[in-house]
Formats: sequence, structure tokens, C-alpha cells
Amino acid sequence: MSVKKKIAECINQLRTEGETCFPFLYNSKLETYNPATDWILYSGPYWDDEEIVAAIESLITGKWVVAGEHVARFEREFSKTYNFESSLMVNSGSSANLVMIAAMKKYYQWNDGDEIIVSPVGFPTTIAPIVQNRLKPVFVDITYHDLNFDLDHVEAAIHSNTKGVVLSPVLGNPPNMDDLVSLCKKGGIQIMLDGCDALGSKWNGKHLSDYAEATTCSFYPAHHITTGEGGMVSSRNDELVSMARRFAWWGRDCYCTGSTNLSPIGACGKRFAKWIDGYDQIVDHKYLFSTIGYNLKPLDLQGAIGCVQLKKSDEIHTKRRAMKSSLEAIFIHHLGDRIAIPQEVAQAETSWFGVPIICNEHALKQELVQYFESHRIQTRNYFAGNILQHPGYHHLDDAQKFPCANLVLDNVFFVGCHPSYNEAVLTRVSDVLSSFVKNPDGRRGEAQLSP
Ligand SMILES: Cc1ncc(COP(=O)(O)O)c(C=O)c1O
Repeated sequence: MSVKKKIAECINQLRTEGETCFPFLYNSKLETYNPATDWILYSGPYWDDEEIVAAIESLITGKWVVAGEHVARFEREFSKTYNFESSLMVNSGSSANLVMIAAMKKYYQWNDGDEIIVSPVGFPTTIAPIVQNRLKPVFVDITYHDLNFDLDHVEAAIHSNTKGVVLSPVLGNPPNMDDLVSLCKKGGIQIMLDGCDALGSKWNGKHLSDYAEATTCSFYPAHHITTGEGGMVSSRNDELVSMARRFAWWGRDCYCTGSTNLSPIGACGKRFAKWIDGYDQIVDHKYLFSTIGYNLKPLDLQGAIGCVQLKKSDEIHTKRRAMKSSLEAIFIHHLGDRIAIPQEVAQAETSWFGVPIICNEHALKQELVQYFESHRIQTRNYFAGNILQHPGYHHLDDAQKFPCANLVLDNVFFVGCHPSYNEAVLTRVSDVLSSFVKNPDGRRGEAQLSP
């Protein structure tokens, strides 16, 4: 019997003995949802035993625990699925952004202080790596109806020091990519995609990443597919990914992965050679350091989980889209024009990360959020709102210059559209909203709806 089969049997045995094995898998699937006790979480791993078996098998049969054959396979399969030349797995989406920008800066020979356009609305580690790489973030305000950056403002911000734009589609929903591409082409600047919330989103039938020079992804459990922690940097430019790998792997020049690590000649085919100018001796390429780097490598078990998750990505995409439509209809039915929900434009096929709700006033957002939370339906701010309002980012620009961005923390929140949501979840959301509308006096207190 194969190791995998034995592990699967072991898990089943534990279950028949009454052990609660990996309860989070089954909570997240909401198969036995009970509104009296259970939370509807905004996200979580969409796993079954196959991911667990793959992870344990990789630990039992693997040689080094660290990134090896499984990570290398995940990188290859991820690239094939999303149309990249190559990919590099790292330990988080934030690390992916860090080395994507480091690699872009080195490859395109940008100077310290060169400018990168970015929205102030979103996740902090979309922006932090620009500063960490000694580039200058130039903020542009958003268009409030879709929360993405305003392309007119992007165009106005491009000048001779601008080198690129980092696009992070809001909850996976892209702005007009044709317009963005054409204005970036005109300005001679590069598009980098923080695709952490947008895996699977398309524009004109092509992956969003097809419109970017380099793309990142996060595999934190809230995201479309998860490996626990984890992230990916990908591109159709192989050299860029090799450069990102150097930054992520201690700064060394060697780019051998998986079994090529054991090769006497290495992936470069000339491992032992005179690599250092001015040093007339043989050097092992494995220990040639061509840049100042980090260690951002994942574990091999994360690669093993990723390979299983990839097989579910189409199903996740379809289910997230369907759930967004159903939840949107429920919200509009109960709240009408007191809220607005961002829409995808005709050319987009958004793989929604969540359902964004724009409230027409601050009090409504506060009341709705409290009401949902007191009824065990998880909500989320749209991350930082305007990042420039936060203490760690104050110094980068004046938050008051971005009036639309400032409204986000006040008026916007989101709920999940997880692929495991089912009819019971939709009914619960509808019941809670119905009770919210009928109980204007009791919104701030404890749950009004029983159970
Ligand atoms: C848009 C965006 N970028 C970057 C990240 C960071 O990813 P990670 O948590 O894997 O570091 C997140 C996390 O949720 C995100 O939403």
C-alpha cells in the first residue's frame, strides 16, 4: 500500500475512534452549519484530506523538509496553469511583493528614489516593499464606485522619474486593463501586479497577469488557494524570476532547484568555474553571492499542499463568482440604495476575494458590522482603508490629499464569498439582514434574531 493511502487510512481510523481531526476543514466547508453556534467565517482553507495527506507524505518521505521537489513541482504547475514562463515560491505574499520589486529594480536598473505609482487603499505590504527597496511610492486617489485607483490620476502622475505602477485589484476586481496598459505603454512604465487577492481573475478572457511584467500571489488561508503561509512571484520573463530567486535565497547566484541541487554541474552547466572577476581560482557557483539577499524560502510541505490546491482552482473561481452574485442580490434586496456594491466591468471575469459593501453613511457601516458580528457572520474592513492615515505610513504623504480613499475606512467593509458557502449560509445572511432592517432600535446591542 502506498504511503499516501496509509496516511489516509490513519486519518479515517482516528475519526472512527472519535478524534476531531482537522476540524477547521469541516468548519470551513459548512456542511453541518448551525446558526445557533457556528460562525460564517469570511474565508479559510478550502481543503479536504488530500491536502493533509500530501503534507504529511512530503514530511515522511522528503529528505530535507525545506523547499525541494514539491516546491519545484508547484512552481512548474502554477506557471503552466496561469501562463507564466516561471515562478518562485516564497514564504508569504508580502515576501513575494518584496522580491518582485527588488528584482524589477535590479533588472530594469532603476535608481533609488525612482517613482512607483500605487493606490493608498489596500494592503500595507503592497506598499511597504516599494519603500523597503528605496523607491518612492507616489499615491493616486481611487474611484469610489470600484475602489480601484483612478486611471486619470495615474496618467497625471506619470513623469520622467516614474518607472512603474503596482496594481492591486480591489478584492480581485480589476480596473480597465486596456486603459491601464495603454497609458503605461505611453508613459514607458512597467505594470507590476500584486495579485494576492486576484488569483484567477481575467480581463478579455486572459489572466490579469498576462497584462503585467511580474505578478505576485499569496497563499495565506484567506486567499483563493492556500498553503498555510506562502506566496509566489511569477513572470513570462524567466530572468526576472531568477533574479527574484536570488533575493529570496540569501542573495546567492545559483538557481538550482529540486534535484538539480545535487547535480555536479548544476543548472548553469558550469558549477565549478572561475566565477569571480579578479579571483583566478575555481569557485562553486552554489556559493557565489551576486546580490544582498534574504531567506524567504517555504517548506516543501507547502509545495505539496499547493499542488493539490491547484487542482481546485477552477472550482474555487466558479463558486466564488456565483456566491458574490447571490450575496449581492440579498444585500440589495434588503438595503436597496443605502449601499452600493462594486461591479465588474464587461471585459472582466473577477475571481472575487469578498463582497465589498459601500455604505451611504458611516453609521450604517458601524451598525451593519456590529449586527453581523453579533450574529456570528464575520466581516472585514477593506484592509487599511487609506494607508496614509496609519502611524507607520503618515510620513509618506498627506492622507487628506485623497478624499475618496479617506471614505473607505468610514463607509466600506466586506463579507466573504467562500467557495464552501451554501444555501444555509445565504438564508442566514438574508434572515440577519431582514431582522436588521426591521429592528432599527436594537442594532447596536446583542443579537436580535434567535437563535
Ligand atoms: C493585496 C494583498 N497583498 C499582499 C498581501 C500579503 O500577503 P501575505 O499575508 O501572504 O503576506 C495580502 C494579504 O492578505 C493582500 O491582500
